[in-house]
Amino acid sequence: MPKISILPLNIRNKIAAGEVVERPASVVKELIENSLDAESTIINIAIFRAGKKLIRVSDNGIGLDREDALIAFERYATSKIKNEDDLFNIKTMGFRGEALSSIASVSKVKMATSYKDSIGTCIEIINGEIKEIRDCSTVGTTIEVKDLFYNTPARLKFLKSDSTENYHIIDVVTKSALPNYKTGFFLKIDDKEVLSLPAASEYRERILHVFGKEFIDELIETSFNENHLSIKAFIDKGLHLRNNKNNQFIFINDRPIKDQTISYAVYKAYEGLIPKDKHPVFILFLKIKPDLVDFNVHPTKREVRFKDKNMVFNFVYHAIKEALKTSNQRSDYHLVKEDISKVTYNDISTQSYIDTIIAEQPLISENESLYKTSSYFGNIPSLYLGDTFIAITNEKGLIIIDYHALHERINYERLLKKIEYNKNKETVNTSNTSSEKPSATNFSIYRLLFPQQVRLKSAEYMVLLENLDILNEFGIEVDDFGHDTIIIRSIPEFLKDADLTGMMNDIAKYLIESNFREKEIGPLYNIKKALAARIACHTSIRGKEVPDSSRIAKLLKDLEDTENPDYCPHGRPTRIFLSLEDLRKMFKK
Ligand SMILES: Nc1ncnc2c1ncn2[C@@H]1O[C@H](COP(=O)(O)OP(=O)(O)OP(=O)(O)O)[C@@H](O)[C@H]1O
Ligand SMILES: [Mg+2]
Repeated sequence: MPKISILPLNIRNKIAAGEVVERPASVVKELIENSLDAESTIINIAIFRAGKKLIRVSDNGIGLDREDALIAFERYATSKIKNEDDLFNIKTMGFRGEALSSIASVSKVKMATSYKDSIGTCIEIINGEIKEIRDCSTVGTTIEVKDLFYNTPARLKFLKSDSTENYHIIDVVTKSALPNYKTGFFLKIDDKEVLSLPAASEYRERILHVFGKEFIDELIETSFNENHLSIKAFIDKGLHLRNNKNNQFIFINDRPIKDQTISYAVYKAYEGLIPKDKHPVFILFLKIKPDLVDFNVHPTKREVRFKDKNMVFNFVYHAIKEALKTSNQRSDYHLVKEDISKVTYNDISTQSYIDTIIAEQPLISENESLYKTSSYFGNIPSLYLGDTFIAITNEKGLIIIDYHALHERINYERLLKKIEYNKNKETVNTSNTSSEKPSATNFSIYRLLFPQQVRLKSAEYMVLLENLDILNEFGIEVDDFGHDTIIIRSIPEFLKDADLTGMMNDIAKYLIESNFREKEIGPLYNIKKALAARIACHTSIRGKEVPDSSRIAKLLKDLEDTENPDYCPHGRPTRIFLSLEDLRKMFKK
């Protein structure tokens, strides 16, 4: 074990400065990284009161002798780099010698550590100063961080609710565990086991432990090497594309990193294969020669700078593109080419003329009569235009509807009505189909013949369990199935064919977000409203299923019963109108 020394001034000045300890999760991250650098094969993490009361990280790594233990909490004390050149060739998680001193300055810390078989050292530090040193018998290193921010009340106040802080902690542990699959990670929160990840033999096994079989089965596994770069990637087959970027992970040399270049390379490889508003799941483990990447960019090391950005972009792009192609040939590939048979106008002036007309159109309500077709009850002659667009006519002109947006609006208002009045009107059907006719103000509940299990990430699982009553209000009946799995028993009828895993994922993501932004979002009703919009978005009529004319008639009738028929809950128009007069103008008559 190299000895710890204090970095000289010229190196200190080159270290990316900034806040290292923002919240309990930052402490957990720093302590785990130290345990990984100490070559630990088991890391136990215990959290009490969201880390505000106590964070304990124990490892079975190489530990510290007495001399090093006493100096480890000094600022710029590190065993990981010695000179300036080392800063550009970083092979360890830590390198600044700042983490322990930053933690010790805002909490009460105890460390028990022992180097090899020597007698262990226990030290206690309060206000950054060593208060007690004694011999103790221990293995590896255990660090306890108590009363975080006790001496900086302003920062303590800035912390969010326990569930939000716990979410960040679980996120940090998960992201540390994914690339470091050879190390066992065990996380307990308030004595409850939250993550139990024994050492694995490969990435796939670790991903399986974290996310479950269903998740990994949806991914294509690929590896690629070139010059100084290598990648192991798990990427979406396109079976269950997501509405958010929640399940996208980039690791560079085993660190979780946020990087636009790499994200962009992945999206570019998927271009034309997935709809523009959908997001692929991906987990990328990228290894790059340390002198080609600078980790000393961000105080919490979450960003990097590449020596050659283009080289990294091309490498990732080709690796993913190739994997998608090969998988396609093997036909375990489910990505569908986007419908690109769109009308193209070469004449720009005509196009902008159309734009103007459309922009000038009052998107209804005050002009509702324009949209009236002779009867909504019979079949309405319609023309499918592609995507989710359908054209219908009435005596006044042409109406183009986006039937997905339209259906979203109808179901959104149904959900809103339900939570507003909580009328308990729906009857739970035990049969496969509903007998009650849903109206725009009501919907039937569909009880799944085979309740669906959905495996989630730990944080998502926890947040859903905390909010079962809200889900119930929407007619979504969910039970705890243990091991990060929930079981869905009933859903609103209109979600019958929806991707329920994707939907629960979206709901959980929003609940977590709303915890983060409690103040901004405001009362619970706002949260429920936003959730209603997200649930409505999973409405069963999706892009590729074209409704027949009687269905269209029914949808238009239901739309009339909504309060705001012109826009979907996300603010996109549900319909636009071109009058005969507009058409005459366009044809320059
Ligand atoms: N769990 C541990 N096991 C063994 N040694 C440790 C452990 N934690 C810390 N150390 C030692 O204490 C030193 C200081 O740790 P600290 O986290 O403050 O700095 P660092 O890891 O070198 O750099 P950084 O600030 O970037 O994390 C480390 O360089 C390492 O030698
Ligand atoms: Mg460190």
